[in-house]
Amino acid sequence: MAQSSARSKWVSLLILFFAHLATTIIADDGPLPNGDFETPPTNGFPSDDILDGATAIPSWKSNGTVELVEAGQKQGGMILIIPEGRHAVRLGNDAEIRQEVKVEKGSTYSVTFSAARTCAQLESLNVSVPPASQTIDLQTLYNVQGWDPYAWAFEAEQDDVSLVFRNPGMEDDPTCGPIIDDIAIKKLFSPDRPKDNAVVNGDFEEGPWMFRNTSLGVLLPTNLDEEISSLPGWNVESNRAIRYIDSYHFTVPEGKRAIELLSGKEGIISQMVETAPNKPYRLTFSLGQAGDKCKQPLAVMAFAGDQAQNIHYTPDSNSSFQVANLNFTAKAERTRIAFYSIYYNTRSDDMSSLCGPVVDDVKVWFSGSNRNGLGVLGLALGFAFWVSIFVIF
Ligand SMILES: *[C@@H]1O[C@H](CO)[C@@H](O)[C@H](O)[C@H]1NC(C)=O
Ligand SMILES: *[C@@H]1O[C@H](CO)[C@@H](O)[C@H](O)[C@H]1NC(C)=O
Ligand SMILES: *[C@@H]1O[C@H](CO)[C@@H](O)[C@H](O)[C@H]1NC(C)=O
Ligand SMILES: *[C@@H]1O[C@H](CO)[C@@H](O)[C@H](O)[C@H]1NC(C)=O
Ligand SMILES: *[C@@H]1O[C@H](CO)[C@@H](O)[C@H](O)[C@H]1NC(C)=O
Repeated sequence: MAQSSARSKWVSLLILFFAHLATTIIADDGPLPNGDFETPPTNGFPSDDILDGATAIPSWKSNGTVELVEAGQKQGGMILIIPEGRHAVRLGNDAEIRQEVKVEKGSTYSVTFSAARTCAQLESLNVSVPPASQTIDLQTLYNVQGWDPYAWAFEAEQDDVSLVFRNPGMEDDPTCGPIIDDIAIKKLFSPDRPKDNAVVNGDFEEGPWMFRNTSLGVLLPTNLDEEISSLPGWNVESNRAIRYIDSYHFTVPEGKRAIELLSGKEGIISQMVETAPNKPYRLTFSLGQAGDKCKQPLAVMAFAGDQAQNIHYTPDSNSSFQVANLNFTAKAERTRIAFYSIYYNTRSDDMSSLCGPVVDDVKVWFSGSNRNGLGVLGLALGFAFWVSIFVIF
Protein backbone atom coordinates (compact mmCIF):
# COMPACT_ATOMS: atom_id res chain seq x y z
CA MET A 1 0.00 0.00 0.00
CA ALA A 2 2.53 2.54 1.23
CA GLN A 3 4.85 1.55 -1.57
CA SER A 4 2.27 2.03 -4.30
CA SER A 5 1.24 5.42 -2.96
CA ALA A 6 4.91 6.39 -2.86
CA ARG A 7 5.23 5.24 -6.45
CA SER A 8 2.19 7.23 -7.55
CA LYS A 9 3.67 10.24 -5.78
CA TRP A 10 6.82 9.80 -7.89
CA VAL A 11 4.73 9.43 -11.02
CA SER A 12 2.84 12.62 -10.32
CA LEU A 13 6.08 14.39 -9.49
CA LEU A 14 7.49 13.25 -12.82
CA ILE A 15 4.35 14.41 -14.61
CA LEU A 16 4.63 17.77 -12.88
CA PHE A 17 8.28 17.96 -13.84
CA PHE A 18 7.55 17.33 -17.52
CA ALA A 19 4.54 19.65 -17.45
CA HIS A 20 6.88 22.28 -16.06
CA LEU A 21 9.40 21.62 -18.83
CA ALA A 22 6.64 21.85 -21.42
CA THR A 23 5.47 25.20 -20.12
CA THR A 24 8.92 26.71 -19.72
CA ILE A 25 9.64 26.10 -23.39
CA ILE A 26 7.27 28.98 -24.18
CA ALA A 27 8.87 32.32 -23.44
CA ASP A 28 8.09 33.41 -19.90
CA ASP A 29 6.95 36.94 -19.22
CA GLY A 30 10.05 38.96 -18.50
CA PRO A 31 13.52 39.58 -19.90
CA LEU A 32 14.59 37.57 -22.96
CA PRO A 33 17.74 35.42 -22.66
CA ASN A 34 20.59 37.93 -22.67
CA GLY A 35 18.02 40.67 -23.28
CA ASP A 36 20.26 43.03 -21.32
CA PHE A 37 23.42 42.09 -23.30
CA GLU A 38 25.32 41.50 -20.08
CA THR A 39 26.21 37.85 -20.87
CA PRO A 40 29.88 37.84 -21.93
CA PRO A 41 30.62 36.55 -25.46
CA THR A 42 32.89 33.47 -25.58
CA ASN A 43 35.92 35.67 -26.22
CA GLY A 44 34.89 38.12 -23.55
CA PHE A 45 33.53 41.61 -24.04
CA PRO A 46 35.44 43.61 -26.61
CA SER A 47 37.46 46.31 -24.88
CA ASP A 48 37.17 49.92 -25.96
CA ASP A 49 40.07 49.84 -28.39
CA ILE A 50 39.30 46.58 -30.15
CA LEU A 51 35.73 46.98 -31.24
CA ASP A 52 34.89 44.05 -33.39
CA GLY A 53 31.53 43.69 -35.08
CA ALA A 54 32.06 39.97 -35.48
CA THR A 55 31.85 39.26 -31.74
CA ALA A 56 29.01 36.79 -31.43
CA ILE A 57 26.43 38.00 -28.95
CA PRO A 58 25.11 35.11 -26.84
CA SER A 59 21.47 34.16 -27.56
CA TRP A 60 21.26 36.54 -30.55
CA LYS A 61 22.01 36.34 -34.28
CA SER A 62 23.19 39.41 -36.04
CA ASN A 63 23.75 40.71 -39.54
CA GLY A 64 25.62 43.86 -40.46
CA THR A 65 27.56 46.09 -38.08
CA VAL A 66 26.29 45.14 -34.66
CA GLU A 67 28.49 46.20 -31.76
CA LEU A 68 28.45 45.53 -28.07
CA VAL A 69 29.02 48.91 -26.49
CA GLU A 70 30.07 49.60 -22.94
CA ALA A 71 29.23 52.22 -20.37
CA GLY A 72 31.81 55.00 -20.45
CA GLN A 73 32.72 54.33 -24.06
CA LYS A 74 33.21 57.51 -26.07
CA GLN A 75 32.40 58.35 -29.61
CA GLY A 76 33.36 61.65 -31.17
CA GLY A 77 33.93 63.12 -27.72
CA MET A 78 30.48 62.06 -26.52
CA ILE A 79 29.94 59.34 -23.96
CA LEU A 80 27.57 56.70 -25.31
CA ILE A 81 24.32 56.27 -23.47
CA ILE A 82 23.86 52.78 -22.05
CA PRO A 83 20.28 52.41 -20.80
CA GLU A 84 20.94 49.83 -18.12
CA GLY A 85 23.84 47.86 -16.68
CA ARG A 86 27.25 48.00 -18.35
CA HIS A 87 26.50 46.84 -21.88
CA ALA A 88 24.11 47.40 -24.74
CA VAL A 89 24.09 46.86 -28.49
CA ARG A 90 24.46 49.38 -31.29
CA LEU A 91 23.02 48.73 -34.73
CA GLY A 92 24.90 50.22 -37.66
CA ASN A 93 23.41 51.06 -41.05
CA ASP A 94 20.95 48.37 -42.09
CA ALA A 95 22.22 46.07 -39.33
CA GLU A 96 19.96 43.78 -37.36
CA ILE A 97 19.84 41.41 -34.43
CA ARG A 98 17.31 38.68 -33.95
CA GLN A 99 16.28 36.07 -31.43
CA GLU A 100 14.03 33.07 -31.94
CA VAL A 101 11.18 33.10 -29.44
CA LYS A 102 8.62 30.41 -28.64
CA VAL A 103 5.17 31.86 -28.28
CA GLU A 104 1.57 30.71 -28.44
CA LYS A 105 0.03 31.04 -31.85
CA GLY A 106 -2.94 33.41 -31.80
CA SER A 107 -1.90 35.21 -28.63
CA THR A 108 -0.87 38.84 -28.44
CA TYR A 109 2.52 39.73 -27.01
CA SER A 110 4.13 42.97 -26.07
CA VAL A 111 7.87 43.54 -26.41
CA THR A 112 9.51 46.09 -24.12
CA PHE A 113 12.95 47.45 -25.03
CA SER A 114 15.05 50.46 -24.21
CA ALA A 115 16.46 52.58 -26.99
CA ALA A 116 18.76 55.57 -27.32
CA ARG A 117 20.07 57.36 -30.37
CA THR A 118 23.75 58.06 -30.81
CA CYS A 119 23.97 60.96 -33.25
CA ALA A 120 21.84 64.00 -33.76
CA GLN A 121 20.41 62.63 -36.99
CA LEU A 122 16.98 61.17 -37.34
CA GLU A 123 17.31 57.68 -36.05
CA SER A 124 14.68 54.99 -35.98
CA LEU A 125 14.34 51.35 -35.17
CA ASN A 126 12.36 48.77 -37.08
CA VAL A 127 11.07 46.17 -34.64
CA SER A 128 9.41 43.19 -36.24
CA VAL A 129 8.06 39.73 -35.80
CA PRO A 130 7.52 39.05 -39.49
CA PRO A 131 5.10 39.75 -41.04
CA ALA A 132 4.26 42.33 -38.35
CA SER A 133 6.57 45.31 -38.02
CA GLN A 134 6.71 48.88 -36.88
CA THR A 135 9.29 51.61 -37.21
CA ILE A 136 9.81 53.46 -33.95
CA ASP A 137 10.98 57.01 -34.40
CA LEU A 138 13.75 57.95 -31.97
CA GLN A 139 13.83 61.58 -33.00
CA THR A 140 11.87 62.89 -30.02
CA LEU A 141 13.73 62.80 -26.74
CA TYR A 142 11.04 62.27 -24.14
CA ASN A 143 13.40 62.61 -21.25
CA VAL A 144 16.68 64.23 -20.47
CA GLN A 145 18.51 60.95 -19.82
CA GLY A 146 18.58 60.36 -23.56
CA TRP A 147 16.98 56.93 -23.60
CA ASP A 148 13.54 55.49 -22.99
CA PRO A 149 11.81 52.15 -22.70
CA TYR A 150 9.29 51.50 -25.49
CA ALA A 151 6.67 48.80 -26.04
CA TRP A 152 5.38 47.26 -29.24
CA ALA A 153 2.75 44.53 -29.57
CA PHE A 154 2.24 41.78 -32.13
CA GLU A 155 -0.07 38.85 -32.62
CA ALA A 156 1.73 35.53 -32.99
CA GLU A 157 0.93 33.84 -36.29
CA GLN A 158 3.11 30.83 -35.42
CA ASP A 159 4.53 29.16 -32.34
CA ASP A 160 8.12 29.93 -33.38
CA VAL A 161 8.81 33.51 -34.24
CA SER A 162 11.84 35.73 -34.81
CA LEU A 163 12.00 38.98 -32.97
CA VAL A 164 14.08 41.34 -35.11
CA PHE A 165 15.49 44.78 -34.38
CA ARG A 166 16.87 46.55 -37.42
CA ASN A 167 18.30 49.96 -38.04
CA PRO A 168 16.70 51.01 -41.34
CA GLY A 169 18.99 54.05 -41.52
CA MET A 170 21.70 54.77 -44.06
CA GLU A 171 23.79 57.42 -42.34
CA ASP A 172 27.03 58.86 -43.69
CA ASP A 173 28.68 58.09 -40.39
CA PRO A 174 28.54 54.32 -40.00
CA THR A 175 29.24 54.56 -36.28
CA CYS A 176 25.87 56.23 -35.79
CA GLY A 177 22.78 54.15 -35.18
CA PRO A 178 20.44 53.32 -32.32
CA ILE A 179 21.51 51.61 -29.11
CA ILE A 180 19.16 49.03 -27.67
CA ASP A 181 19.06 47.27 -24.33
CA ASP A 182 16.75 45.56 -21.80
CA ILE A 183 14.50 43.50 -24.02
CA ALA A 184 11.57 41.71 -22.41
CA ILE A 185 8.39 40.06 -23.60
CA LYS A 186 4.97 39.64 -22.06
CA LYS A 187 1.91 37.75 -23.15
CA LEU A 188 -1.07 40.07 -22.93
CA PHE A 189 -4.53 39.09 -21.88
CA SER A 190 -7.60 41.08 -22.71
CA PRO A 191 -9.36 41.90 -19.45
CA ASP A 192 -13.09 41.20 -19.40
CA ARG A 193 -15.31 44.18 -19.69
CA PRO A 194 -16.49 44.87 -16.15
CA LYS A 195 -20.18 44.93 -15.30
CA ASP A 196 -21.61 48.47 -15.35
CA ASN A 197 -18.58 49.77 -17.23
CA ALA A 198 -18.26 49.80 -21.00
CA VAL A 199 -14.50 50.48 -20.90
CA VAL A 200 -12.04 47.60 -21.29
CA ASN A 201 -8.89 47.90 -19.17
CA GLY A 202 -10.09 51.29 -17.93
CA ASP A 203 -7.78 50.95 -14.90
CA PHE A 204 -4.79 50.31 -17.22
CA GLU A 205 -3.62 47.43 -15.02
CA GLU A 206 -2.94 45.18 -18.02
CA GLY A 207 -0.13 46.40 -20.22
CA PRO A 208 3.46 45.86 -21.34
CA TRP A 209 6.27 44.43 -19.24
CA MET A 210 7.85 47.01 -16.94
CA PHE A 211 11.22 46.54 -15.31
CA ARG A 212 10.74 47.00 -11.60
CA ASN A 213 13.92 49.06 -11.34
CA THR A 214 13.43 51.27 -14.40
CA SER A 215 12.06 54.60 -13.31
CA LEU A 216 11.10 56.06 -16.69
CA GLY A 217 7.82 54.28 -17.37
CA VAL A 218 7.32 52.76 -20.84
CA LEU A 219 6.51 54.79 -23.94
CA LEU A 220 3.64 53.53 -26.05
CA PRO A 221 4.05 54.69 -29.63
CA THR A 222 1.20 54.79 -32.15
CA ASN A 223 -0.34 51.41 -32.71
CA LEU A 224 -0.94 51.00 -36.38
CA ASP A 225 -3.40 48.15 -35.98
CA GLU A 226 -6.29 49.11 -33.73
CA GLU A 227 -6.74 45.53 -32.58
CA ILE A 228 -3.17 44.97 -31.46
CA SER A 229 -1.99 47.23 -28.70
CA SER A 230 0.44 46.92 -25.80
CA LEU A 231 -2.37 48.38 -23.72
CA PRO A 232 -5.32 46.01 -24.35
CA GLY A 233 -8.48 47.87 -25.31
CA TRP A 234 -6.69 51.16 -25.96
CA ASN A 235 -5.34 52.78 -29.05
CA VAL A 236 -2.57 55.36 -29.29
CA GLU A 237 -3.74 57.34 -32.31
CA SER A 238 -1.16 60.07 -32.45
CA ASN A 239 2.33 60.34 -33.90
CA ARG A 240 3.78 60.92 -30.47
CA ALA A 241 3.83 58.38 -27.67
CA ILE A 242 2.09 58.35 -24.33
CA ARG A 243 3.79 57.06 -21.19
CA TYR A 244 2.70 53.98 -19.24
CA ILE A 245 3.60 54.52 -15.60
CA ASP A 246 3.84 52.38 -12.46
CA SER A 247 3.17 53.09 -8.81
CA TYR A 248 6.76 52.21 -7.83
CA HIS A 249 8.15 55.31 -9.48
CA PHE A 250 5.16 57.58 -10.08
CA THR A 251 2.04 58.72 -8.27
CA VAL A 252 -0.83 56.63 -9.61
CA PRO A 253 -4.49 57.24 -8.61
CA GLU A 254 -5.48 53.59 -8.26
CA GLY A 255 -3.80 50.18 -8.55
CA LYS A 256 -0.27 49.82 -9.89
CA ARG A 257 -0.54 51.38 -13.35
CA ALA A 258 -1.88 54.43 -15.15
CA ILE A 259 -1.02 56.57 -18.18
CA GLU A 260 0.64 59.95 -18.39
CA LEU A 261 -0.31 62.09 -21.38
CA LEU A 262 2.57 63.90 -23.10
CA SER A 263 3.10 66.42 -25.87
CA GLY A 264 -0.27 68.14 -25.89
CA LYS A 265 -2.49 67.28 -28.84
CA GLU A 266 0.26 65.12 -30.27
CA GLY A 267 -0.41 62.34 -27.75
CA ILE A 268 -3.93 60.92 -28.04
CA ILE A 269 -5.27 57.73 -26.53
CA SER A 270 -8.72 56.38 -27.35
CA GLN A 271 -11.09 53.45 -27.09
CA MET A 272 -14.29 52.52 -28.89
CA VAL A 273 -16.80 51.48 -26.25
CA GLU A 274 -20.09 49.68 -26.73
CA THR A 275 -23.12 51.86 -26.17
CA ALA A 276 -26.85 51.81 -26.92
CA PRO A 277 -27.89 54.59 -29.32
CA ASN A 278 -29.83 57.53 -27.87
CA LYS A 279 -29.14 56.51 -24.28
CA PRO A 280 -27.53 58.77 -21.68
CA TYR A 281 -24.08 57.84 -20.41
CA ARG A 282 -21.48 59.27 -18.11
CA LEU A 283 -17.74 59.10 -18.59
CA THR A 284 -15.79 59.32 -15.32
CA PHE A 285 -12.05 59.13 -14.79
CA SER A 286 -9.32 60.03 -12.35
CA LEU A 287 -7.23 63.01 -13.37
CA GLY A 288 -3.98 63.38 -11.47
CA GLN A 289 -0.37 64.35 -11.38
CA ALA A 290 2.42 61.78 -11.61
CA GLY A 291 4.58 63.09 -8.77
CA ASP A 292 7.35 63.78 -11.29
CA LYS A 293 7.78 67.53 -10.72
CA CYS A 294 5.72 68.27 -13.79
CA LYS A 295 5.26 72.01 -14.23
CA GLN A 296 1.58 72.93 -13.80
CA PRO A 297 -1.03 73.75 -15.05
CA LEU A 298 -2.15 70.26 -16.02
CA ALA A 299 -5.33 69.71 -18.00
CA VAL A 300 -6.90 67.21 -20.36
CA MET A 301 -9.34 67.34 -23.19
CA ALA A 302 -11.78 64.46 -22.75
CA PHE A 303 -14.00 63.26 -25.59
CA ALA A 304 -17.05 61.03 -25.46
CA GLY A 305 -19.05 60.79 -28.67
CA ASP A 306 -19.80 64.33 -29.79
CA GLN A 307 -19.03 65.85 -26.38
CA ALA A 308 -15.66 67.33 -25.56
CA GLN A 309 -14.59 68.93 -22.33
CA ASN A 310 -11.51 70.70 -21.14
CA ILE A 311 -10.79 69.70 -17.52
CA HIS A 312 -8.16 71.36 -15.38
CA TYR A 313 -6.39 69.53 -12.60
CA THR A 314 -7.48 71.25 -9.35
CA PRO A 315 -7.38 68.60 -6.63
CA ASP A 316 -8.15 68.98 -2.94
CA SER A 317 -5.03 70.00 -1.07
CA ASN A 318 -4.18 66.50 0.05
CA SER A 319 -5.00 64.44 -2.99
CA SER A 320 -2.87 63.68 -6.02
CA PHE A 321 -5.92 63.26 -8.23
CA GLN A 322 -9.56 64.23 -8.68
CA VAL A 323 -12.50 62.46 -10.29
CA ALA A 324 -13.77 64.17 -13.44
CA ASN A 325 -16.89 63.43 -15.44
CA LEU A 326 -18.56 64.14 -18.73
CA ASN A 327 -22.20 63.39 -19.64
CA PHE A 328 -23.12 62.37 -23.16
CA THR A 329 -25.82 60.75 -25.20
CA ALA A 330 -24.65 57.84 -27.33
CA LYS A 331 -25.35 58.26 -31.03
CA ALA A 332 -24.38 54.77 -32.14
CA GLU A 333 -23.54 51.28 -30.95
CA ARG A 334 -19.91 52.23 -30.59
CA THR A 335 -18.75 55.50 -29.07
CA ARG A 336 -15.22 56.83 -29.15
CA ILE A 337 -13.76 58.10 -25.92
CA ALA A 338 -10.40 59.85 -26.06
CA PHE A 339 -7.98 61.96 -24.06
CA TYR A 340 -5.12 64.30 -24.74
CA SER A 341 -3.20 66.81 -22.68
CA ILE A 342 -4.13 70.45 -23.25
CA TYR A 343 -0.65 71.74 -22.44
CA TYR A 344 2.82 70.80 -23.51
CA ASN A 345 4.35 70.20 -20.07
CA THR A 346 7.94 69.63 -19.03
CA ARG A 347 9.49 68.80 -15.70
CA SER A 348 10.35 71.79 -13.54
CA ASP A 349 13.70 70.31 -12.48
CA ASP A 350 15.28 69.72 -15.89
CA MET A 351 12.98 71.89 -18.08
CA SER A 352 13.06 69.37 -20.91
CA SER A 353 11.75 65.92 -19.96
CA LEU A 354 8.18 65.61 -21.20
CA CYS A 355 5.43 64.99 -18.65
CA GLY A 356 1.74 65.70 -18.24
CA PRO A 357 -1.56 64.81 -16.61
CA VAL A 358 -2.26 61.27 -15.40
CA VAL A 359 -5.44 59.44 -16.40
CA ASP A 360 -6.70 56.34 -14.59
CA ASP A 361 -9.92 54.47 -13.74
CA VAL A 362 -11.84 55.33 -16.87
CA LYS A 363 -15.49 54.28 -16.71
CA VAL A 364 -18.42 54.71 -19.03
CA TRP A 365 -21.77 53.81 -17.60
CA PHE A 366 -25.40 54.08 -18.47
CA SER A 367 -26.59 57.08 -16.48
CA GLY A 368 -30.28 56.49 -17.13
CA SER A 369 -30.26 53.79 -14.43
CA ASN A 370 -30.64 56.36 -11.62
CA ARG A 371 -33.84 57.59 -13.17
CA ASN A 372 -35.00 53.98 -13.48
CA GLY A 373 -34.09 53.50 -9.83
CA LEU A 374 -36.24 56.52 -8.94
CA GLY A 375 -39.00 55.11 -11.11
CA VAL A 376 -38.96 51.84 -9.21
CA LEU A 377 -38.86 53.74 -5.92
CA GLY A 378 -41.81 55.86 -7.09
CA LEU A 379 -43.79 52.76 -8.03
CA ALA A 380 -43.03 51.18 -4.66
CA LEU A 381 -44.05 54.34 -2.78
CA GLY A 382 -47.23 54.58 -4.85
CA PHE A 383 -48.01 50.95 -4.08
CA ALA A 384 -47.39 51.53 -0.35
CA PHE A 385 -49.64 54.57 -0.49
CA TRP A 386 -52.55 52.66 -2.00
CA VAL A 387 -52.01 49.74 0.37
CA SER A 388 -52.12 52.07 3.38
CA ILE A 389 -55.27 53.76 2.01
CA PHE A 390 -56.76 50.31 1.58
CA VAL A 391 -55.79 49.28 5.14
CA ILE A 392 -57.11 52.53 6.64
CA PHE A 393 -60.48 52.13 5.02
C1 LIG B 1 22.37 40.06 -44.21
O1 LIG B 1 21.92 41.29 -44.78
C2 LIG B 1 22.14 41.38 -46.16
C3 LIG B 1 21.77 42.79 -46.59
O2 LIG B 1 20.60 43.25 -45.97
C4 LIG B 1 21.31 40.31 -46.87
O3 LIG B 1 21.53 40.37 -48.26
C5 LIG B 1 21.72 38.94 -46.33
O4 LIG B 1 20.89 37.94 -46.90
C6 LIG B 1 21.60 38.90 -44.83
N1 LIG B 1 22.14 37.65 -44.33
C7 LIG B 1 21.46 36.87 -43.52
C8 LIG B 1 22.16 35.62 -43.08
O5 LIG B 1 20.33 37.13 -43.13
C1 LIG C 1 10.69 46.48 -41.04
O1 LIG C 1 11.49 45.40 -41.44
C2 LIG C 1 10.78 44.33 -42.03
C3 LIG C 1 11.75 43.20 -42.30
O2 LIG C 1 12.52 42.93 -41.19
C4 LIG C 1 10.12 44.80 -43.27
O3 LIG C 1 9.36 43.75 -43.85
C5 LIG C 1 9.18 45.95 -42.96
O4 LIG C 1 8.65 46.48 -44.14
C6 LIG C 1 9.91 47.03 -42.20
N1 LIG C 1 8.88 47.93 -41.71
C7 LIG C 1 8.92 49.22 -41.88
C8 LIG C 1 7.77 49.98 -41.32
O5 LIG C 1 9.83 49.78 -42.47
C1 LIG D 1 17.46 45.80 -12.66
O1 LIG D 1 16.99 44.49 -12.35
C2 LIG D 1 17.56 43.47 -13.12
C3 LIG D 1 16.90 42.18 -12.74
O2 LIG D 1 15.55 42.32 -12.60
C4 LIG D 1 19.07 43.42 -12.90
O3 LIG D 1 19.62 42.45 -13.75
C5 LIG D 1 19.66 44.77 -13.23
O4 LIG D 1 21.04 44.78 -12.93
C6 LIG D 1 18.97 45.88 -12.45
N1 LIG D 1 19.45 47.15 -12.91
C7 LIG D 1 19.79 48.14 -12.10
C8 LIG D 1 20.25 49.39 -12.75
O5 LIG D 1 19.71 48.05 -10.89
C1 LIG E 1 -3.46 65.62 4.77
O1 LIG E 1 -2.31 64.79 4.81
C2 LIG E 1 -1.60 64.87 6.02
C3 LIG E 1 -0.34 64.05 5.91
O2 LIG E 1 -0.55 62.93 5.10
C4 LIG E 1 -2.50 64.38 7.16
O3 LIG E 1 -1.83 64.46 8.39
C5 LIG E 1 -3.77 65.24 7.20
O4 LIG E 1 -4.66 64.74 8.16
C6 LIG E 1 -4.46 65.25 5.84
N1 LIG E 1 -5.56 66.19 5.87
C7 LIG E 1 -6.77 65.90 5.37
C8 LIG E 1 -7.77 67.01 5.44
O5 LIG E 1 -7.04 64.81 4.89
C1 LIG F 1 -23.53 64.91 -15.25
O1 LIG F 1 -24.83 64.72 -14.71
C2 LIG F 1 -24.88 64.59 -13.31
C3 LIG F 1 -26.32 64.40 -12.90
O2 LIG F 1 -27.03 63.63 -13.79
C4 LIG F 1 -24.31 65.83 -12.63
O3 LIG F 1 -24.25 65.60 -11.23
C5 LIG F 1 -22.93 66.09 -13.16
O4 LIG F 1 -22.44 67.30 -12.63
C6 LIG F 1 -22.94 66.18 -14.67
N1 LIG F 1 -21.60 66.36 -15.14
C7 LIG F 1 -21.24 67.41 -15.85
C8 LIG F 1 -19.79 67.49 -16.21
O5 LIG F 1 -22.03 68.26 -16.23
